Amino acid sequence: MTKVLVTGGAGFIGSHLVDRFLQEGFEVRVLDSLDPKVHPFGRPAYVPPTVEFIEGSVTDREVLAHALKGVDVVSHQAAYQDYMPDFSRFLNVNAVGTALIYELIVQERLPVKKVIVASSQAVYGEGQYDCTAHGFLLPTPRSQSQLTERRWEVLCPRCTHPARPRLLQEEHTNPYNQYAVSKLAQEKTALGLGWIHGIPTVALRYSVTQGPRQSLFNHYSGVCRIFVSGALAGNPLIIYEDGQQTRDFVHIEDVVNANMLVLQQDAADAQAFNVGSGRATSVLEYARLVREKTGTEVEFRIPAEYRTGDNRHSVSSISKLQALGWCPTHSLSDILDDFLMWVEQSGGIPEKVQDAYSNMKQAGVVLAAG
Ligand SMILES: NC(=O)c1ccc[n+]([C@@H]2O[C@H](COP(=O)([O-])OP(=O)(O)OC[C@H]3O[C@@H](n4cnc5c(N)ncnc54)[C@H](O)[C@@H]3O)[C@@H](O)[C@H]2O)c1
Repeated sequence: MTKVLVTGGAGFIGSHLVDRFLQEGFEVRVLDSLDPKVHPFGRPAYVPPTVEFIEGSVTDREVLAHALKGVDVVSHQAAYQDYMPDFSRFLNVNAVGTALIYELIVQERLPVKKVIVASSQAVYGEGQYDCTAHGFLLPTPRSQSQLTERRWEVLCPRCTHPARPRLLQEEHTNPYNQYAVSKLAQEKTALGLGWIHGIPTVALRYSVTQGPRQSLFNHYSGVCRIFVSGALAGNPLIIYEDGQQTRDFVHIEDVVNANMLVLQQDAADAQAFNVGSGRATSVLEYARLVREKTGTEVEFRIPAEYRTGDNRHSVSSISKLQALGWCPTHSLSDILDDFLMWVEQSGGIPEKVQDAYSNMKQAGVVLAAG
């Protein structure tokens, strides 16, 4: 029987992978630190009791060495994700933790046959754009002064006219914030060391993944939780910038299918792939759908505020993974239906989480334009 280690296996994506691996006849071991920001009540009930569970961190050499023993496949999902300014922790957990996996595989000569690492669309930073006059550009994040003037679109640095976003292609990464930099460092570490030491490795750059078991506590879990909790509580939905910024939402089942596909296909080795929908949804469109699905009449508030480090448009091209035979099967409507069902099963979104907005304002993460 093939044995797989799922790091972060108590989390949203990791736990769905655990279920699929079990269904497919794998023997599963989980390593998860049960980060209290994600799991304030400890080990979640959805982690099957039959699974071998190691509570500990991927940054702990001894614990990780124990977790890697006898394993054929590593599905590395554990990560630190937040918007808060504890910069070093991102690199420590996400990049150093990944390096430690390879260090142990190489030093202990472990017979690991494949490693799949969870990367992120965040590695593209502000994205990939075209200026009508000056062609292709990889922009820096929009400056505070630009945002203060409510000039929300990405501007060409040469002519300062708004540039047009492209679908994000795998070859152009350009991260800036602490999470994005740590995810690219993680992926480069994995693909580089995997290549040099002959350990088949694939990096999957997930877009905004949604579905049941998404943490209702973690501030990072973003727009879906924030809008749904606002709508259900009858509070206005606060929309950053002008609401025309676009995102790419993908269903958890499609993400799990992508993992299973690259596990089986050697042709995927030593590469990074986008896993998204290939479809742009504006934040305003998303808010409208939340209002419709929750059957509420809440107002939208657009106070010309922005979140530092946010990108304007982030929609991935999915043609590279499609060429290997993967295709997303869920619509945005399915995604929201499943998330709402999960919120209902969980007894609603915890009240104290609803002030993520004021927390971020206090921490200087959300700022007002002029
Ligand atoms: N959910 C998304 O939209 C999304 C998008 C892009 C990339 N990703 C990546 O996918 C992976 C899974 O994300 P998720 O949404 O399931 O997050 P999650 O927070 O639900 O799960 C992460 C799990 O990792 C565990 N963890 C955190 N630090 C750890 C450590 N030091 N050692 C061991 N375990 C640790 C947490 O306790 C949690 O159970 C992450 O690598 C993330 O960067 C997620």
